[in-house]
Amino acid sequence: MEWRNAVLLAKLKPSKPKMVNIGMKTLMVVEDEGVVHATEGLCRHMRWPLGLGGKVEDGCVTCPLHQTRHRMDDGSLEEWSPFPLFPPYGKLVGKMSKKKDLPIYDTRIQDGYVQVRM
Ligand code: FES
Repeated sequence: MEWRNAVLLAKLKPSKPKMVNIGMKTLMVVEDEGVVHATEGLCRHMRWPLGLGGKVEDGCVTCPLHQTRHRMDDGSLEEWSPFPLFPPYGKLVGKMSKKKDLPIYDTRIQDGYVQVRM
């Protein structure tokens, strides 16, 4: 496990997720209520990039596509593909893949960078 620079801390806006590529991995990095989180960058449901429209609130990130929601502190699943515009369709789409938690990564701030332990 090594610490890798992910993004300049100054580039993060509160609760606005950012996509970051480190090696072959795509991560989502966000500062929320003074804590910097790094998670798997692609939604666990159907791999939508969480940095594109992901909503961060109450310690969770919600995918904009079908509203799958995970906690950012431990990656646990809160809700799987509810798709509020048309719930029966959302549940069907939800069954297309198995429910999964969101991998999370340790973060630290070093020399103005958010670093992620890979
Ligand atoms: S791709 Fe994210 S909820 Fe479906």
